[in-house]
Amino acid sequence: MTLNIIPKPNKVDFYGGEIPAAEQPVAYRTDETLGEEAYIIDIQKNGTVITAKGEKGRYYADITYMKLAEKGSLPLCKITDEPAFSYRGFMIDSARHIQTVEELKKYILAAAAFKMNVFHWHLCDDQGWRIECETYPELTKVGAYRDCHGFRSKDGREYGGYYTKDEIRDIIAFCEERHIEVIPEIDMPGHTTAIVASYPWLSCRGVKVPVQTDGGIFKDILCAGKEEVYEFCFKLLDEICELFPGKRIHIGGDEAPKARWCNCEKCQAKIKEEGLKDVEELQGYFTNRIADYLEKEKGMEVLAWNETLNSGIVKDSVIICDWMDRTGKSEEYANKGGKIIAEDFYHYYLDYPYGMTPLKKTYGFSPLLEKLDEKGKKNVLGVETPIWTEFVEDFDRMCYMCFPRLIACAESGWTQGENKDYKSFRERVKDYNEKLLSYGVKMADEEEWDPSLKRRTKDMLKRWKDMLDPRAISVFLFPNKDD
Ligand code: ACM
Ligand code: ZN
Repeated sequence: MTLNIIPKPNKVDFYGGEIPAAEQPVAYRTDETLGEEAYIIDIQKNGTVITAKGEKGRYYADITYMKLAEKGSLPLCKITDEPAFSYRGFMIDSARHIQTVEELKKYILAAAAFKMNVFHWHLCDDQGWRIECETYPELTKVGAYRDCHGFRSKDGREYGGYYTKDEIRDIIAFCEERHIEVIPEIDMPGHTTAIVASYPWLSCRGVKVPVQTDGGIFKDILCAGKEEVYEFCFKLLDEICELFPGKRIHIGGDEAPKARWCNCEKCQAKIKEEGLKDVEELQGYFTNRIADYLEKEKGMEVLAWNETLNSGIVKDSVIICDWMDRTGKSEEYANKGGKIIAEDFYHYYLDYPYGMTPLKKTYGFSPLLEKLDEKGKKNVLGVETPIWTEFVEDFDRMCYMCFPRLIACAESGWTQGENKDYKSFRERVKDYNEKLLSYGVKMADEEEWDPSLKRRTKDMLKRWKDMLDPRAISVFLFPNKDD
């Protein structure tokens, strides 16, 4: 027998028989020896006992218990449960397209139902800056708007906006009630066109550039040679850290083209001055300076995308988000003691169609990557599914793309090894449809989840034709070996 619960509890002992849920008394006990997120639910004829160390464990036990009780009767059993990983994240890109606060809350409710515990909020990129900011007001005056709506539909209308600090605090509080940590991402030194559009002197060339209206990788990134750029970043991060009370922050670091740095006197002078080898090491130096500031001055832990490892000099306290790493640098980093989070492009990027990333493939991904040794496996903090929104313009589309694939990631973050079972997962997912609808989240229909080879080929070709996005092209050129 399998309980109708996602993530699947790690241990269930059945006593046999059932009991009406409405009449069942529930008692709570504390056990200091349990993990923060662990819980035990013991359902016996004379009552249920829920045991946890504290609030978090009780919260997860309640989610499980309420779902079990939904059908009116409870199976007599003992559930002993605890997550495999401490980091079970979902990332939302609010830069390319913005979600309303109400939409974000719907999504958060849905993720919370599956015991996810980190909301990584991607709040700035080439196409927009989305945080109210007093220190640098041009970020919202200029950087929050672009001159057309949608990525391909250049109809001349301005698109943009940003979250006020009160709105952000509201989201943080909403998450906190659900034991979800909010990690803001300030992507740097690349993907910074919206920042450079607001303050052109931050780039190497110092020329005015527009906030981007299409997806891609753009050359006018922050200059790593100018001291004023570091001062700008520190002051900006002061304000961000004040707004976000958590102890972790993401500083991006992905897809930073070095063309401008190669031709910039100041970047080249910085390379010499610091005894660096090349522009790649300059990015390592940049990352380390920002990370040092956040760690030493703000007491923060720092996350960054896996490209920051390319320099070979990034400090080992940085938590690496491994999204696209063909050379195994993230695994090597974890084997040496660094912490990593698995968010593999081929399995967890929910902006790609079901034809390219079927549900089964997402479900089958193990964050315990191939080249990890025993020590390295212990350094995997967990999993995360990003939804990038270049081509996800509205909330209905976002729900279609993310549900149920996000749920597959949630189960992998909690349930590991032999306990994972795709067939049972598919059945259990269907049982959550009503709950998700009650939050305002409509999943993709079942026939979308695992498309036929014909449909997969069609999706792949359509996607490739529709958009000359380097990431889509790379899927085509470097198909996943297990696909
Ligand atoms: C990324 O997808 N550029 C992190
Ligand atoms: Zn420069």
